[in-house]
Amino acid sequence: MEVIIRPNADAVAQLVARLIAKELRANPHLVLGLATGRTMESVYRILARLHKEKQLDFSLCRTFNLDEYVGLSGDNPHSYRYYMDKRLFSQVNIDKRNTHLPNGMAPDLDGECREYEAKIKRAGGIDLQLLGIGKAGHIGFNEPLSALRSRTRVKALTPATIEQNAAIFEDVGRAPRRAITMGVGTILECRRCLLMATGVSKADIVAKAVEGPITSMISATALQLHAHCTVVVDEAAASKLNATDYYRWIFQNEPEWEEFRAQD
Ligand code: F6R
Repeated sequence: MEVIIRPNADAVAQLVARLIAKELRANPHLVLGLATGRTMESVYRILARLHKEKQLDFSLCRTFNLDEYVGLSGDNPHSYRYYMDKRLFSQVNIDKRNTHLPNGMAPDLDGECREYEAKIKRAGGIDLQLLGIGKAGHIGFNEPLSALRSRTRVKALTPATIEQNAAIFEDVGRAPRRAITMGVGTILECRRCLLMATGVSKADIVAKAVEGPITSMISATALQLHAHCTVVVDEAAASKLNATDYYRWIFQNEPEWEEFRAQD
């Protein structure tokens, strides 16, 4: 794992978008794993701008999202399909047929999960997976006690996650209680993981995920097992980490980060 600390949320989004753009330019056939949520919104805004202003080309790119709510169709404004169409897919030159999310309306949900895994395999696996982190440490919707080897499946959301979503769904009674999510095992098979977190409300969980013991209670800790995982945080989200001197030193000195330092 490597941790990159940037001054604020904007700089985090800039760096993450530039990393994605760099990988996409190096490999136009990139298989990109995507996430939703508030943290990702600015990344998608920057990617849309890079497409319009710097001709970032998505025409050969394929995408797989981490998750989708059970019971919401793609035209429901609260669905993750709707979120992705609005914020990224309609803003760039991606072929919609190459964009994949689990279908939360599938009559056979277990079959849908198996098929989603098979689709990822047929695409050759995910090259770069973008991840956010929930306040209790979920990645995707891998809530506490998600097996570290879990695959795409239906997961019951915790009351805390349902509560967090309640504002979006107007009241808690209408918020979905289950989601289809890639498993922790599915995520660990991606070639590279890129986790981003911003704001002081994520500081505790970032410290646990990065420097705490690996536990299925906090699925993000499983990323410590990944051979190539980059965690990009702002100062606020980094405020409870211990080894920040070392993390800063890496960013300031390692050649890999030279082109990204120029943004400062
Ligand atoms: C959504 C997802 C979730 C979010 C996480 C953080 O696709 O995978 O794990 O990334 O809940 O959400 P925000 O960014 O809204 O704090």
